Amino acid sequence: MSAPLITVVGSVNLDFVATARTLPAPGETVTGATLARHPGGKGANQALAARRLGAAVRLIGRVGADGMADEALALLKAEGVDLSGVAIDRAAPTGVALIGVDAEGENQIIVAPGANAAFTSDLLPTVIEGALICQMELPAATVAAAVARATGFVCVNLAPALDVPDSVLRRADLIVVNQGESEVYGRRLHGLPGLVAVTWGSRGAGLFHDGARLATAEPPEVSVIDSTGAGDTFVAALTVALLEGMGHPEALAFACAAGALTATRAGAQPSLPTRAEVEGML
Ligand code: RIB
Repeated sequence: MSAPLITVVGSVNLDFVATARTLPAPGETVTGATLARHPGGKGANQALAARRLGAAVRLIGRVGADGMADEALALLKAEGVDLSGVAIDRAAPTGVALIGVDAEGENQIIVAPGANAAFTSDLLPTVIEGALICQMELPAATVAAAVARATGFVCVNLAPALDVPDSVLRRADLIVVNQGESEVYGRRLHGLPGLVAVTWGSRGAGLFHDGARLATAEPPEVSVIDSTGAGDTFVAALTVALLEGMGHPEALAFACAAGALTATRAGAQPSLPTRAEVEGML
């Protein structure tokens, strides 16, 4: 079987990660953390996750004309993601995410989108062939234009939960949300033509069509170090699995295992699992 061809239209960030015993409450200062920086951004993470799972991947995005861009793109470049669609913005910096991680691996993320926010639809190709994955860290109008130009399978990860045109929800073959996002979109996720996957963290995930549950899966038990990027891996893995023709229960189990593995290591992109690791866990 030939590798699925996936275009990711999405964000590229450099993640500054402070790991501390606890996360701060509003107005509180927590000290004693350690700092690391890793390539991140939901779009870039999903692109690399799909690549490590065996897909041929092209990323379309926007970064600043700065050193952070080189750091943010380093793993994608080294691992063969096609970056010819990543444009340089001379006026805005590379996107940055400030991430706090606590001793349980829970996180809080604030994103300064920089060049991602300046990614307008004129940068998109007029036709996007193969499969498409999008998330909501670009302007909603750009996501809508990308989805409208796609000719193949479309996966939309509605993260973070922002307003999105109905045309996007109706065109998507697969929508992925976490529990909080599913509550924000509420009834808008009902009665859609495509599949809806809902992730419930360590409790696993469900796959639905028009309100009917097609499959549920529980992730394998793992010790969680940092959950950052686990959702992105789930999105990429479920897309790859469905494109490869796996049945719904198998595809969901594959995606849950891939997400769980991501949470066992620190950082977003450094922790994304390979195909062999996911298959080993299953
Ligand atoms: O989903 C995790 C990602 O969200 C991080 O890598 C960070 O950059 C934010 O975009």
